[in-house]
Formats: sequence, structure tokens, C-alpha cells
Amino acid sequence: MATLNINDDETFELDSETPIKDSCEEAGIPFGCEEGVCGTCIVEVEEGMENLSEFTEEEFDFLGELDCERLACQCKILKGEVKLRY
Ligand code: FES
Repeated sequence: MATLNINDDETFELDSETPIKDSCEEAGIPFGCEEGVCGTCIVEVEEGMENLSEFTEEEFDFLGELDCERLACQCKILKGEVKLRY
């Protein structure tokens, strides 16, 4: 199990390897393409970047070398706790 906290407000308990998209959507984060190309779903990772899946190719293309942001349509939570802000 893993814990996803969004904006210090909503907390979700998720199975390991679960995409975070549905929880983020429930918390009000907007989505567009859902394929990693539009950037609508950018979130800031405040804590727990190491608990998220590896950057996808789409994230590298869109975010470059930034290490504090992710595309919520692209990543999965793996373990532990992750805190996001948007
Ligand atoms: S919804 Fe377009 S990049 Fe995530």
C-alpha cells in the first residue's frame, strides 16, 4: 500500500503500482490529453519523488531535467508516501 496526499487536503490509500491519475482527478486536478503531451496535469512533488515510478519518455520530453514536477497522467505510485501540490 502507498499513501497519496494532495494539497495537504485529500489523502488516498492506493495499492502499489497504481496510476495516480484517478485520485488526482478526484482531487480536482485538471487533465487534457492524458497522454503526456499537453502539460495540463503538471503537479509539484513536495515529498516522495522516490516513491513514484520512473519518468516516462513523455515526461522527459515535456519536463526536461526538472526533478520536482511530474505529469499526473503518466506516473504510478509505488510505495510509502507521496505529497503533491497543484
Ligand atoms: S493530461 Fe496532458 S500531459 Fe497529462
